[in-house]
Amino acid sequence: MTMNHSIDPAVAALLPLAKKEGIATVWDRYKAMQPQCGFGQLGVCCRICWKGPCRIDPFGDGPQRGICGADADTIVARNVIRMIASGAASHSEHGRHVALALLGVAEGKLPDYRIRDEEKLRAVAAKLGLETDGKEIPAIAREVALATLGDFQNQDHDTPCTWLASTLTEKRLERLAGLHALPHNIDAVVTQILARTHVGCDADPANLILGGVKGALADYDGMCLATELSDVLFGTPRPAVTAANLGVLKEDAVNIAVHGHNPLLSEVVCDLALLMDDEARRAGAAGGINIVGICCTGNEVMVRHGIPLATNYLSQEMALVTGAVDAMVVDVQCIMPSVSEIGACFHTEIITTMDDNRIPGATHVRFRETTAAENAREIVSLAIAAFRRRNPQRVVIPDFRQTAVVGFGTEAIVGALAALNADDPLKPLIDSIANGSIRGIALFAGCNNTRTTQDSSFVTMAKKLARNNVLLLATGCGAGSFAKHGLMTQEATEEHAGDSLKGVLTAVGTAAGLGGPLPLVLHMGSCVDNSRAVEVAVAVANRLGVDLDQLPLVASAPEAMSEKAVAIGTWSVALGIPTHLGTMPQVTGSPAVTELLTETAKDLLGGYFMVELDPDKAADRLLAVIDERRQGLGI
Ligand code: SF4
Ligand code: FE2
Repeated sequence: MTMNHSIDPAVAALLPLAKKEGIATVWDRYKAMQPQCGFGQLGVCCRICWKGPCRIDPFGDGPQRGICGADADTIVARNVIRMIASGAASHSEHGRHVALALLGVAEGKLPDYRIRDEEKLRAVAAKLGLETDGKEIPAIAREVALATLGDFQNQDHDTPCTWLASTLTEKRLERLAGLHALPHNIDAVVTQILARTHVGCDADPANLILGGVKGALADYDGMCLATELSDVLFGTPRPAVTAANLGVLKEDAVNIAVHGHNPLLSEVVCDLALLMDDEARRAGAAGGINIVGICCTGNEVMVRHGIPLATNYLSQEMALVTGAVDAMVVDVQCIMPSVSEIGACFHTEIITTMDDNRIPGATHVRFRETTAAENAREIVSLAIAAFRRRNPQRVVIPDFRQTAVVGFGTEAIVGALAALNADDPLKPLIDSIANGSIRGIALFAGCNNTRTTQDSSFVTMAKKLARNNVLLLATGCGAGSFAKHGLMTQEATEEHAGDSLKGVLTAVGTAAGLGGPLPLVLHMGSCVDNSRAVEVAVAVANRLGVDLDQLPLVASAPEAMSEKAVAIGTWSVALGIPTHLGTMPQVTGSPAVTELLTETAKDLLGGYFMVELDPDKAADRLLAVIDERRQGLGI
């Protein structure tokens, strides 16, 4: 394997150190795993029952059916929709957690939380069709929370989930209803996927995939409610200038890395860190407490509070190799189990916080919303105690950090546009799309994956699309890539944007008081915040009187990896968005499923998957799709 591990200079600086210390990283384990199982890569390995495992011979000489009679199409379809179910469960469980917290706040049961954005609460209530006139904030919050929890409880199959029904275009809802793909209850739909994929159940690949589409739309519902209610509780993102990459760690501070996905914990850790700064100084940390983010917990606190981002998924271990992280506090999702072993090579406390997400070797602080401040105090105290044990001789903080202008949720984008046209904020955006100044919009999302050089495809594709005047949005570890590589700056706009895009970004940024253009890539937040991009797209579509599958809008996950990414990619397709994958999905062992996802989906949904591993060619294909859509609109 000659491929480079990463284009991140901080990773390049630390890998030799890891090697010298005998620390195995994700890239070492990837190498040790080669060659990887070909059946698994094609998706034709089934382990759904104990007659198996069975695998279909892709060359046709060996078995073409599993012991029960399932063929490659059935096996692949079952495998992929189980991934969707897991992704939907993950996002929605996070969402449920936030909704229950909102209910707790509304009922006065959670003193460590409050509603920080009342305006957003009212806007959300209005969006859900709830009457708010004359009602106090707690009463509105309670109604919003209960309406949201209804999306986990409704048993009427003919009534789709509330969030989904209130946030998509009418035409999209009709189209999805026609396919019987609208979820009525997130939990039920996840359960149905597990039930229909049990041995001896649904064997029809098309029917299975449609069930997966429904599961993916449940995923959309869960992330939409997670995003919006988090804004209510913790504040709606606003543009802020911050920094990214491991150079944000400080030698003279107690460094606490918050890692995972759910803001319920990290928000309170941030609050407590402020209160306990003096304690850190008394322990000898002249710089006090320095909170940094990793993965989507990092994105959540970055877009809301301008907390710097240390790194994204694939390089999470590298943060520990600096020897400067005193505590890594994790909640849920995308936390490598290896972190406890690496933390043990240093003084670093790895602190798990969720009872159903524990790692052997880590310290577990049982986090409860009812005792959040007390739990956060214990966590920060552990970090300060660890700082006292830190060996300064082993601290190597690579001097790489990039400025990042972040915090572009829907409200911030509309707010910036309103500086150009207060009465009709969307008009400048729509005019720019119509006159070609903005050729199209691309949303970059998703993970990092060892199968590609970390961050490389993100950066290559973004630069090419920007040069061709495509407006760029980003979330999750994709956003992390851009932040680390300096593409969320005004300078990047000057350097990489095509002339007409630069003109628009400059006009909007200047009018909005940024003293120059908007950054080249707009950071919308974490993975669940992909719903923000849908919100913008739906507003534009409604304004134009068209559906989402007519917009010159594309999505890309160049390093897709997780089950959550499979779910997001699938709802993106279901919403009518051409969706690029830069890593090979584990479905190609079934020509029928591959055709369904890349071809048939186009007729049924308007969106479809495009797989292209070469980032340069992928950008060309996305440009071609954008132009096709423009032609369709007659612009
Ligand atoms: Fe094999 Fe069928 Fe069991 Fe899968 S469900 S392991 S294909 S017998
Ligand atoms: Fe994420």
